[in-house]
Amino acid sequence: MREVAIIGVGMTKFGELWDKTIRDIFVEAALNAIKDAGVDRIDSMYVGNMTAGLFIGQEHIGALMADYLGMAPIPAMRVESACASGGMALRAGLMEVCSGMSEIVLVGGVEKMWSGADATYALSTAADQEYECYQGITFPGLYALIARSHMHKYGTTRKQLSMVSVKNHHNGSLNPNAQFGRETTIDAVTNATMVADPLTLMDCSPVSDGGACAIICPMDIAKKYTDTPVKILASGAATDTIALHQRKEITDLNAVKVAGEKAYKMAGLSPKDIDLAEVHDCFTIAEICAIEELGFCEKGKAGEFTEKGETGIEGKMPINTSGGLKSKGHPVGATGVAQAVEIVEQLRGNAGKRQVKDAKIGLTQNMGGSGASSVVHIFGVC
Ligand code: COA
Repeated sequence: MREVAIIGVGMTKFGELWDKTIRDIFVEAALNAIKDAGVDRIDSMYVGNMTAGLFIGQEHIGALMADYLGMAPIPAMRVESACASGGMALRAGLMEVCSGMSEIVLVGGVEKMWSGADATYALSTAADQEYECYQGITFPGLYALIARSHMHKYGTTRKQLSMVSVKNHHNGSLNPNAQFGRETTIDAVTNATMVADPLTLMDCSPVSDGGACAIICPMDIAKKYTDTPVKILASGAATDTIALHQRKEITDLNAVKVAGEKAYKMAGLSPKDIDLAEVHDCFTIAEICAIEELGFCEKGKAGEFTEKGETGIEGKMPINTSGGLKSKGHPVGATGVAQAVEIVEQLRGNAGKRQVKDAKIGLTQNMGGSGASSVVHIFGVC
């Protein structure tokens, strides 16, 4: 397999982008990445997108984006794995470059969620329709079940959930691309409008428009384009039962654990080698579960780990320096690539006030549904 590097990244601001269509958003992110990489050609592209059909009535997203980027007739494919679509698009592009089939590949993700469509319904199509949605469950409801169970089993507290949100909003306040780039407090999170008990509005990622892209190529030509290529050291992916009630333990995110183990094995690394990670905090409890499954702390102890400040920018294991999905925003198909954008900025030393000191190895974990799919990437400075 060829070694592969990211040579350029770009994204849009996340938020309610009422004056931009889905193609405007994708093209802006793609042109930012192309400019950053300094490439004059793209051989192929992959676009992560969860559900443009439901949000804006548009399918055939790969061809649409290649057309409006002025790249036709290159091959272009949409990749869908619910909220893990972006991470899976990166993995698909990586495999194409690894295989030797293409050299310079654009991997991106985009979602236009503010369109007048019912976002709660569109998102719920990633859950099990017959066994979950027909009974009235929504994504905040599913993660609320996980949160209650984690609190019961491990003693995780309401305050610890709030601290995840406070930390991510602090990081987001340092990120100009964040949708809700403002600080919050433990009281404000705890006392916000209840969405699905125990999760309040401030435990939830928002509804967002946005796009993110990266340009990847074989390691042996990366230095031609940039002095700071970021190597993709590993990619691991896994699935789990789509319905939450079919799992042995609803506090276990087995797809995250298995995807992480595969990635660590491929990179020849362990959790203690990772300097920072972007994990899929679609709800505060998801960050708690993800950092346990990835081995950054003991199972059941992520609440305490967070309370001690270990997941802050200056902590033992900085998590979601970008602000995460909670503060930066969660345009579902774009999230997995936006996580990689943050890691690249960090490993290049370009993250400004969010910069983690001496960051050399970063990890991203992107997840679909209530954990039915997950993809983990590990990146390193060359
Ligand atoms: N975090 C912080 N602030 C938020 C927010 C969030 N997640 N969502 C909305 N707000 C703010 C709005 O800007 C608005 O502020 P304003 O009054 O100052 O203008 C206020 O809260 C109310 O916004 P509104 O749009 O009426 O909220 P809502 O009740 O319609 O939606 C949620 C809030 C949490 C239900 C919605 O964001 C949601 O469904 N999130 C989860 C998305 C999801 O499931 N993603 C997939 C994960 S698997």
